[in-house]
Amino acid sequence: MAHKCWQTWLNIALVFLTTTAADFTTECQRPCDCRWQSGNKAAICANSSLRVIPVNLSSDIQILDLSNNNLLQLHQEAFKRVGLSNLKKLFLKDCNIEVVHKAAFVSLAIMIELDLSKNRIRHLHPDTFKGTEKLRLINLSNNLVDKLEDGLFRNLKYLQKVELSNNRIVRIATKAFVNLPQLKILRIDGNNLSHMKPETLMALRNLSGLDLHNNPWRCDCNLQTFRDWVISHNLYTPPTSCAEPASIRSKLWNELDSSNFACRPTILEPLPDSTIKSYEENVTLICKVVGNPTPEVFWRFNGKTIELRSFGEIRYTVSENTMDLIRFVNLTVLHTRYSDRGNYTCVAENPGGRDEKTLTLVLSKYSGSGTIAGMHEDTFAVLIGSLISILFFIGFLYAVCYSVKQSMELRRLIKTDTSSSNGETLLEGSVASEAEKGSKTDVNPFTKPPRKYEASALSIGIEMSELNKILLDNDCVSGELFNIKDYTTKYQRKLN
Ligand SMILES: *[C@@H]1O[C@H](CO)[C@@H](O)[C@H](O)[C@H]1NC(C)=O
Ligand SMILES: *[C@@H]1O[C@H](CO)[C@@H](O)[C@H](O)[C@H]1NC(C)=O
Ligand SMILES: *[C@@H]1O[C@H](CO)[C@@H](O)[C@H](O)[C@H]1NC(C)=O
Ligand SMILES: *[C@@H]1O[C@H](CO)[C@@H](O)[C@H](O)[C@H]1NC(C)=O
Ligand SMILES: *[C@@H]1O[C@H](CO)[C@@H](O)[C@H](O)[C@H]1NC(C)=O
Ligand SMILES: *[C@@H]1O[C@H](CO)[C@@H](O)[C@H](O)[C@H]1NC(C)=O
Ligand SMILES: *[C@@H]1O[C@H](CO)[C@@H](O)[C@H](O)[C@H]1NC(C)=O
Ligand SMILES: *[C@@H]1O[C@H](CO)[C@@H](O)[C@H](O)[C@H]1NC(C)=O
Repeated sequence: MAHKCWQTWLNIALVFLTTTAADFTTECQRPCDCRWQSGNKAAICANSSLRVIPVNLSSDIQILDLSNNNLLQLHQEAFKRVGLSNLKKLFLKDCNIEVVHKAAFVSLAIMIELDLSKNRIRHLHPDTFKGTEKLRLINLSNNLVDKLEDGLFRNLKYLQKVELSNNRIVRIATKAFVNLPQLKILRIDGNNLSHMKPETLMALRNLSGLDLHNNPWRCDCNLQTFRDWVISHNLYTPPTSCAEPASIRSKLWNELDSSNFACRPTILEPLPDSTIKSYEENVTLICKVVGNPTPEVFWRFNGKTIELRSFGEIRYTVSENTMDLIRFVNLTVLHTRYSDRGNYTCVAENPGGRDEKTLTLVLSKYSGSGTIAGMHEDTFAVLIGSLISILFFIGFLYAVCYSVKQSMELRRLIKTDTSSSNGETLLEGSVASEAEKGSKTDVNPFTKPPRKYEASALSIGIEMSELNKILLDNDCVSGELFNIKDYTTKYQRKLN
């Protein structure tokens, strides 16, 4: 009895096995090859120029390989429509797929592996993986995806690996990866990412492999927290490097210090090449800067760093405050004076770089053509100084002129009296004139009337050049005059 029973069971099993085997392999539609593969019913339809998903495959198929065909699109319910709801692995690599309908994979509730690599997919709707809750591996590498929207990878409890290498991803929304407790490996290398927030990946507690290399990372303050998070969680893999700013281009993240991830300061105010006109006694110049980390800010006046005090007097005050990355450093010039006109430069520096902007201060009370009333002490002093100098110079000129006139007078007289002595020295002449003045001598008696007015312009000219010669030969005019006088006295003595 027991034996018979056993035989019946065996027969049933055999029948069942043969029929199912016949179903799955015999129903296999050309050009597919249906066979067992690691305990699963597989339909291998690769390399076949298929334009659509085969319609007559057994619904028992668990592995479907459609790699290297020409599907172009995955329509709504593309697999449900052809009765394939038991797929565990779906290979759609290299199929020229451009469009994936948001409900293309609906009904694939037990799918664990999906390969969509090497296609031309640009966009993935956030609901694309909504019904495929058993997924462990999603391969989307080598596509044209440019962004990952909020919710695209969400509530996939078994998802362990996501490959997105070599796409064009510029932006990953902060909620693109949500509730993925098993996610261990994420590859986003070879994309167009320049910045990212740690919040995007922070919730992935089981993440142990993160590939970020070959992206144009902009290593500034916006990337700093993400970079620090990556390093501190041991998720850094070389050769993840910086593309910008130029100063740290192609430096590896782990070679740089966190402080290198800084944002160059930007001065928002003053505007470039601006001019401030003021009538005020105290003029406040505003410097408004953004920068992260908070930059050092200081002012320069005509290229020199400003000293708040000058000769014990407080000349400037600086007030500063910082609110949300915006920093004000306001410079007040106290009791403005004429010399406070000029170029004021605000300079801001931090590890990210520096910026400077210059404004020109015009003090309107001095802009008119010199009203004494508005003038300050120092200007006045300069003016007085100039006046004194001018007066002194005039006085000097007058003195010179007077002396010259005197000596010329002298010579003219000599010339007249000694005209017969033709070209006798000036000395003799002066002596003669002195003698004449004294009128006690008879050396040159008045034989002829004085010819004062005969002294021609020419002779005056000669005398002038003669005098010039003396002036040039001797440093001091008064000295020369003294010499003449000296000789005169000497000659007088000789006469006596
Ligand atoms: C399809 O072609 C690729 C390379 O051209 C080859 O590696 C792969 O084995 C082929 N697959 C099948 C099922 O013929
Ligand atoms: C699929 O099978 C049905 C009958 O089972 C047949 O009429 C149809 O032509 C087949 N289609 C293809 C594409 O082989
Ligand atoms: C994903 O696809 C790429 C390109 O086809 C391939 O090189 C890579 O090995 C795949 N990754 C996995 C885990 O299968
Ligand atoms: C990480 O994965 C292990 C199994 O690989 C799992 O037991 C654990 O709960 C996961 N951690 C989190 C935070 O989900
Ligand atoms: C990368 O993104 C930038 C804009 O952020 C864009 O100008 C550039 O063309 C993109 N590069 C590629 C290869 O897609
Ligand atoms: C200018 O500043 C000085 C010093 O703070 C102050 O004593 C003076 O009253 C100010 N002048 C004006 C016009 O506000
Ligand atoms: C101020 O700047 C202007 C233009 O930049 C320049 O022509 C001028 O000489 C500068 N003045 C001083 C005092 O440096
Ligand atoms: C600087 O000036 C700006 C504009 O007047 C003002 O908003 C800011 O509060 C000032 N900051 C300080 C510290 O004085």
